[in-house]
Amino acid sequence: MDWPRGFGGLCYGGDYNPEQWPEEVWKEDVELMRRAGVNLVSVGVFSWARLEPAPGAYDFGWLDRVLDLLHTGGIRVNLATPTASPPPWFGLAHPDARTVTPDGTRLTHGSRDTYCVHSPAYRAASVRIARALAERYRDHPAPAMWHVHNEYGTTCHCDHAATAFRTWLQARHGTLEALNDAWTTSFWSQHYSAWEQITTPRTTQYLPNPAQVLDFRRFVSDAMLDHFREQKAVLRELTPDLPITTNFVLGDWVPVNQRHWAAEVDLVAIDHYPSADPPAETAFAADLARGWASDPAHGSADAPAQGPATGKPWLLMEQAVVTYTGPRMLAKRPGEITRLSLSHIARGSRGAMFFQWRASRGGAELWHAGMVPHAGPDSRVFREICDLGALLPTLKDACAAPVEAGAAILWDVEANWALQAPGLPSTELNHTEAARQAHRVLYRHGVTADLVPPSADLSAYPLVLVPSLYLICDADAENLRRYVSGGGTLVVSYLSGVADEHARVRLGGYPGALRDLLGIRVEEFHPLPPEVTLTLSAPSPNGSGPRPAAPVPTEAETPTRSRPGAGTFASEQAETGTFWSEHVHLEGAEALAVYTGPHTLGTPLSGRPAITRHPYGSGTALYVSTRLTDDGYARLLGLEPAPVELVRRGDWLFAINHGDEEQQVAGLRLPPGGFAVRARG
Ligand code: GAL
Repeated sequence: MDWPRGFGGLCYGGDYNPEQWPEEVWKEDVELMRRAGVNLVSVGVFSWARLEPAPGAYDFGWLDRVLDLLHTGGIRVNLATPTASPPPWFGLAHPDARTVTPDGTRLTHGSRDTYCVHSPAYRAASVRIARALAERYRDHPAPAMWHVHNEYGTTCHCDHAATAFRTWLQARHGTLEALNDAWTTSFWSQHYSAWEQITTPRTTQYLPNPAQVLDFRRFVSDAMLDHFREQKAVLRELTPDLPITTNFVLGDWVPVNQRHWAAEVDLVAIDHYPSADPPAETAFAADLARGWASDPAHGSADAPAQGPATGKPWLLMEQAVVTYTGPRMLAKRPGEITRLSLSHIARGSRGAMFFQWRASRGGAELWHAGMVPHAGPDSRVFREICDLGALLPTLKDACAAPVEAGAAILWDVEANWALQAPGLPSTELNHTEAARQAHRVLYRHGVTADLVPPSADLSAYPLVLVPSLYLICDADAENLRRYVSGGGTLVVSYLSGVADEHARVRLGGYPGALRDLLGIRVEEFHPLPPEVTLTLSAPSPNGSGPRPAAPVPTEAETPTRSRPGAGTFASEQAETGTFWSEHVHLEGAEALAVYTGPHTLGTPLSGRPAITRHPYGSGTALYVSTRLTDDGYARLLGLEPAPVELVRRGDWLFAINHGDEEQQVAGLRLPPGGFAVRARG
């Protein structure tokens, strides 16, 4: 199967919503798309009300004309099923298909995404509209792939949801006794004596049960995946040659287990809207997407290898020409659209797509930017869009080889969900944020990282970072032991290995499942108030001095960077720890650094290990019991800063200067904001 059908090079385009515009604009759209080098547009994402204005009455005439026009203009279509936004008539006819919030409020139409994936009426209507579209366009030459739904994400607490949840729980736990045990329902008299007593975690008087909340998130992901699969089955039956995907969005609230879903899509698609630190966030999101796509368990024959594992292709399906920061939308600086697109592509994306083609003149997102802004094509943004469109076809060769990673970072959606439970020792604990820090540190030092699950084959990585992996199952803990005993270097940070798959604490000391591997036992957590900073110093006297562990691979082309190796703690360099600390006992490990400084006086932490190192088999496992600064983390890993973003793919090097100063690196001179994609020769 071509990916997408008929594409040899990179995809370029965005969401195209012609239904928002009079037909005379469509012609101009196609002309401008051609001028910009656009070759793929996502059509019909929210078009249900236009496609089916009344139950069972379809109006495809307008879409026929749109697809014909695009085809004539040489532009392919990522054809969407519109199920993310049921029309008003649907919600009125089927109130039980409208979302119910945790407090029992049933939502009304008037926005989008007001649906319940557990509702039989909605499920049936979704398959019907998907079938109608596939029957209509199965022989049309424009569609290159299918885009099912949009950003699956609406969680419902209605009775349909509760019934489906119980069925899912029965399959997962088998007996009520097992569920009661897994959920620790002995606490607060929550014991269930019949399945019918179990509800979704609706609004309740005080803290909900964390195991129930975690199972509910797992269930919602599975239920949404069923909704996706039903549409996929129909589309596959009628259009066997077209790839099928849906777009993942990033965020703690997202109820989708992207890694499970990646097995079901023909390519992984993500939407990415960075806010605070766009270059670092972009690299993180792209590496995450590559990780989801690269699970060898769901490889596809035609996709070139990506990263150490082979896998599926992935695509940046949406980004914006502005930066959404929450309080305000920031204009991107000249060249920033190009640099961030290039960063995605360097890291494996099969193209750069945007939300959306033409900025809307009304509707809820009238201020969400477009490739063609309100000002029209005579604009700085559209000129940069044209420049980017001209650049992409030149990158084909550079994108042929797999992305090369020098390290892996473990990221697991269930660990992330578990760490969002209420009642934890700090409300600020966040697995994804810890992973972002680990990633940012590697990124700023020129090391490309794969973000992989704890079950991944890690043997090819010289270095694996484990950032606050709160929840881990026994099999995954064993996988980490296997990796280290085989010679790997593992750097585990605070609050890892603590909980089992039911979010229950592993007893006998933290970090639970990883104690023997790390050669330590943590007796007590000491979360720190915001104003408290701890000093970390090399232990002395009689403490063991610095001893380098396995080195991170060196970058031959950047001789200015030296990498002494992970696990070096320079004795003259005191580090600082914030946010979190732990009372660590050595049980085979040695202390690389101990807690000192005024804030530890009179506490059990004073002089106790803060960073430890443990030889295990042929490898080494380090533990960091506090939050280091980015620079401290880098020093621990033995990294030197890289002034620009660097990604290697076979014989090709991508170098992107996101900064305001000229940089010389790897034999290249990059002006402020400049980039280079060149054969390494
Ligand atoms: C995306 C979404 C689009 C649009 C966009 C706005 O997350 O998929 O439909 O809402 O955000 O920037």
